[in-house]
Amino acid sequence: MRIYLTGFMGSGKSTIGKILAEKLGAPFIDLDQEIEHKANKSITSIFEQQGETSFRDLEKSTLELFLMDPFVMATGGGTFIHNRDWMLNHGTVIYLDLPFEKLVTRVGADPKRPLWSNSRKLYDARIEHYRQAHHLVDASEDPEKIADKIKNLIYQGS
Ligand code: S3P
Repeated sequence: MRIYLTGFMGSGKSTIGKILAEKLGAPFIDLDQEIEHKANKSITSIFEQQGETSFRDLEKSTLELFLMDPFVMATGGGTFIHNRDWMLNHGTVIYLDLPFEKLVTRVGADPKRPLWSNSRKLYDARIEHYRQAHHLVDASEDPEKIADKIKNLIYQGS
């Protein structure tokens, strides 16, 4: 089984993904890290030097590299928005749902997140897309509990 975690910046995709992967005995992949590795530069530098369109191309080609099974992947906040059908067809997409106000308290003013300055508008525009994931999970709980919930969803389909 391939599991893609999606959700806005700060929703806990990487933290929860690592815990979930361990619980499932599956490899964990952090897509942003893989992109940085492939480009040999940080996400911030890619945005600054090449722009968002170039980042999205790189994000797509990196995403599509992972076809082994199983894995748990923490994707970037925009990955599902830009690759929705592909992701829905290649694995199970879990949306980590958190209200904008809670994300703000978690992320604060993070200079390492190039799109954060536009976050309110982005959140409002993305929310309906995120809701097209296979499963929606409340991400306000403890990461361990959330990982258990996802594991149950996957095994029981409920
Ligand atoms: C982005 C989120 C970031 C990263 C890039 C673009 C987005 O990942 O992929 O800065 O479009 O929301 P995180 O969600 O892990 O911060």
